[in-house]
Amino acid sequence: MPPSIRFDILTLFPEMLAGPLEGGVLGRARRAGLVEIESHNLRDWAMDRHNTVDDYTFGGGSGMVMKPEPIAAAVEALRNEKSWVVLLTPQGKVLDHAVALELSRKTHLILICGRYEGVDERVRIQLVDEQISIGDYVLTGGELPALVLTETVARLAPGVVGNDEATRKESHSEGLLEHPHFTRPREFRGEAVPDVLLSGDHGAIRRWRHRESLRRTLLVRPDLLQRRGLEPDESEWLWKEEPAAMSGFHGVPPSVEPDPPLEKKLES
Ligand code: ADE
Repeated sequence: MPPSIRFDILTLFPEMLAGPLEGGVLGRARRAGLVEIESHNLRDWAMDRHNTVDDYTFGGGSGMVMKPEPIAAAVEALRNEKSWVVLLTPQGKVLDHAVALELSRKTHLILICGRYEGVDERVRIQLVDEQISIGDYVLTGGELPALVLTETVARLAPGVVGNDEATRKESHSEGLLEHPHFTRPREFRGEAVPDVLLSGDHGAIRRWRHRESLRRTLLVRPDLLQRRGLEPDESEWLWKEEPAAMSGFHGVPPSVEPDPPLEKKLES
């Protein structure tokens, strides 16, 4: 099976990427030929004998800007007709599971790691297909974001993680956080593994896991639950178990009479 996706990462600091790309699941997937991931030093495409890759900001101001020529030369050397060019920047669309799934359908991603004050605007205008941020905070460069994106997308490629179907559907894609996990020992510092997980009753285990996913999502990420919505039985269980969190979430418990329809109000 040829690799389903290739990543070319353009950076001024390839040494920041080397370790993470060699270790763990990503390293194994590369060695198994399931994905191709290469990093490239943008200085190799610099145009002058000083290997200049940045310059002063037109209009004045502190900080340097990455020059467009080396980035353009690198992208043009690497791209094919199916390439998708991504600039990692805090000004981009925020990466989530849906964005990662979309990117995992591409066959070739070229990732540009910005540095300094940013990259020359002509790079965005002429070369970049999509700008992606990994969250609303600012790092000193796009290298760690490129690694985050690469790992998130590469693990969706066929064969990289055990169960492809489960990987594509997991956690955020179902709109819920993962349920808690336990392994041995059965008791650790006074905390026991819930009995149901030892019961062998697969239906009961599935139900418990689903409910704990709901509970966790309500307590930690109510915004996800709001987006996903709740089935009546899910809502009923959460009201029983977590009334305080549910009233913050919904305002009123379901036992409170809903507003009568407008005609009824007008009649009375
Ligand atoms: N470069 C600096 N901060 C970043 C962020 N949050 N996401 C992507 N690229 C960045």
